[in-house]
Amino acid sequence: MSIHHALARAAERLSLTSPTPRLDAELLMAAACGLSRDCLLLDPPDEPSPPEFEQLVERRKAGEPVAYLTGRRGFWTIELEVGPGALIPRPDSETLIVAAVEHFAGRPGPQRILDLGTGPGTLLLAALDEWPAATGIGVDCSSAALTYARRNAARLGFGDRVELLEGDWTRGIDERFDLVLANPPYVAADAALGAGVAEYEPHEALFAGRDGLDNYWALAPELGRLLSLGGLAAIEIGFDQAETAGALFRQAGLSPRPAQDLAGHPRALLIRFS
Ligand SMILES: C[S@@+](CC[C@H](N)C(=O)[O-])C[C@H]1O[C@@H](n2cnc3c(N)ncnc32)[C@H](O)[C@@H]1O
Repeated sequence: MSIHHALARAAERLSLTSPTPRLDAELLMAAACGLSRDCLLLDPPDEPSPPEFEQLVERRKAGEPVAYLTGRRGFWTIELEVGPGALIPRPDSETLIVAAVEHFAGRPGPQRILDLGTGPGTLLLAALDEWPAATGIGVDCSSAALTYARRNAARLGFGDRVELLEGDWTRGIDERFDLVLANPPYVAADAALGAGVAEYEPHEALFAGRDGLDNYWALAPELGRLLSLGGLAAIEIGFDQAETAGALFRQAGLSPRPAQDLAGHPRALLIRFS
């Protein structure tokens, strides 16, 4: 079967289970052909559809995330290698990078960056791509996630600018940073998630106790000792947590300000240290 026909047929099959069937089919075909999606669409190979494509479509139909099937996910200006054990980067988290870019606009960029709960290196590596003179530390409690972070740092050429530590949030970190980024787990234990999320993505990257606030309790009292003068902490929150999480940071003596995502939902708390 030609690539053109295989794509059309796969999109039809995936429309039963995926909200983005054509996009999924194109990403899976690109991976099966060893091409970028742009190359596939602009200059499709004049060859039959590769047999791996059918297997990928079947797995996608059963609910496996596209990023785990292709092993790749774009975030901000970089592409990250991802797989089971590492949270798939979400566009919502780019709100933190946007806020940091705005904070440092017109002044020297951050020199030292800390990413708490770095996963596959998502926020730290995006920030290092944005500020080429910066170096940073990424912390995660998951050795599986850190394996991806190490590979991503090396593949992007940031190996000598990054330290990746397996640990519990800020424990053992005794330094001040110009930029502290954190996207901790914040889903309440009984919350319903989108199709495939809880089945495939690591629970330690998603859930945070009965009300989803456990990790903000842990992080809020630490930020004061970690931020440099003029620095910024950007902490991701659930779309309905601006009030509850904000109150925890205020209790720790900080003045958080919400930042909105492109849809206008508060998705981060920003804390400046001046
Ligand atoms: C929501 S994911 C964020 C991943 C990545 N930073 C991103 O933005 O896509 C949260 C991450 O925090 C890590 N984590 C959970 N509890 C932790 C802890 N106590 N200390 C360090 N990392 C933790 C998880 O393993 C996971 O990688």
